[in-house]
Amino acid sequence: MKTLVIVTHPNIEASRINKAWIEELRQQTDVTVHELYKAYPDEKIDVAAEQRLVEAHDRVIFQYPMFWYNTPYLLKKWFDEVLQYGWAFGPEGTKTAGKEIGAAVSTYGTEESYQANGFNRFTLREILRPIEAIAPFIGATYLPPFTLSDSSNLSDERLAQSRIDYVRHIRNAKPVGARD
Ligand SMILES: Cc1cc2nc3c(=O)[nH]c(=O)nc-3n(C[C@H](O)[C@H](O)[C@H](O)COP(=O)(O)O)c2cc1C
Repeated sequence: MKTLVIVTHPNIEASRINKAWIEELRQQTDVTVHELYKAYPDEKIDVAAEQRLVEAHDRVIFQYPMFWYNTPYLLKKWFDEVLQYGWAFGPEGTKTAGKEIGAAVSTYGTEESYQANGFNRFTLREILRPIEAIAPFIGATYLPPFTLSDSSNLSDERLAQSRIDYVRHIRNAKPVGARD
């Protein structure tokens, strides 16, 4: 199982969580780390190259810090441009069929804040629904999200544990049912 992790962080040098996750992933031989802002400083995505990368892997994880309950915009651009009709969907668009996709997301908000009765009012699973909805549309299955919350109160121990859990997640996560 080959995993492609597409990292979208506009300021990875100043990052704590996403930077640590990448460091850990780079030690795994069956994981390709692809940083969108490094690959495209001008934000012009090479669609054919991205499609080839996806085709060469079984699993694609979208890793990013949550921005306004959403992805950083370069990742939204990636979805808009790379998931083309005739490639990812439509009668001949079968290149993503059978792949597994998922999200790995860091947040400032605490775990408790991402609950129906919490400050952010929705769970992270709910907020990540657009990616979950993309999965069946492109013939893929959806992995449960991997998250790390409360970025401003994060101890070194919790971050270290998260690195281990993330690799474990990438190896062992099982797709959830589309209507789970
Ligand atoms: C423009 C912007 C929007 C943000 N929006 C959210 C948000 O909606 N929810 C949240 O929990 N954190 C939000 N944050 C905080 C980031 O998610 C947080 O700083 C990041 O996940 C920490 O990860 P890092 O150490 O890899 O940078 C936002 C940060 C920025 C810069």
